[in-house]
Amino acid sequence: MAPVIDLRDVVKEYPSGAGRVRALNGVSLEVMHGEFVAVVGRSGCGKSTLLNMITGIDRPTGGRVTVAGTEISRLPERQMARWRGENVGVIFQFFQLLPTLSVIENVMLPMDFAGRGSADERRARATHLLELVEMSDQADKLPLSTSGGQQQRVAIARALANDPPLLVADEPTGNLDSTTAEAVFRLFGELVEAGKTVVMVTHDIDLAARTRRTIRMLDGRIVGDDGSDRSRDLAGRAVVEPAPAVHAPASALSAG
Ligand SMILES: Nc1ncnc2c1ncn2[C@@H]1O[C@H](COP(=O)(O)OP(=O)(O)O)[C@@H](O)[C@H]1O
Ligand SMILES: [Mg+2]
Repeated sequence: MAPVIDLRDVVKEYPSGAGRVRALNGVSLEVMHGEFVAVVGRSGCGKSTLLNMITGIDRPTGGRVTVAGTEISRLPERQMARWRGENVGVIFQFFQLLPTLSVIENVMLPMDFAGRGSADERRARATHLLELVEMSDQADKLPLSTSGGQQQRVAIARALANDPPLLVADEPTGNLDSTTAEAVFRLFGELVEAGKTVVMVTHDIDLAARTRRTIRMLDGRIVGDDGSDRSRDLAGRAVVEPAPAVHAPASALSAG
């Protein structure tokens, strides 16, 4: 099976006052379907730039980026937003929910953009996703009247709206207390068990140690990649014996 993420010799330079900043300096990376990958490294090492290459939020200066079978580094700008909406769910540190829309309207929005199903079907799917993240009882509230942890769970439901194979999260627990961070981390683990691929940038070394694979970056390069850590199951729980891959039915997540 082809990798869901395939980066080859990716370079990203930004213009700066002094000349150019090399945020990524020749990064090659393959991530297979169903992997749970943590990306770590000190501030400024290129983690967010790497994620922006994977989501197509930004384009490489050199090299090739193929995600979910599409070479997005060659995709025309006008096709990028639609491609992203259908193939990647993006989750940010500060949630980035639209404050004037209710919780359920935020989750319906990506389906509205994709022109997916009838209005009733979108609402039903959004309700189902809010149940999955245990937020269905807050569906009609405005995001800012809920807690940070609740907003992040809504953002995860929104990321799942169009049932993308890949979820990309940039410090999703960075603004949460440790208990709430734990709940959000577990939710990612459950999504991986259900068949999603998750790439998560984190400053939290304890959380990173619990994913099967951790990628370490320094100065725009990947300097460490522990591959597949068999002492963890897909959801990041410690296992004594190497566990066979368990694939929970994806039906809980797929569009009805
Ligand atoms: N839009 C931009 N314009 C100029 N420089 C940038 C931009 N985005 C990132 N950089 C620079 O690229 C480097 C990597 O940044 P970033 O990927 O945000 O690091 P991280 O997420 O690991 O903290 C830093 O030196 C940063 O200042
Ligand atoms: Mg960053």
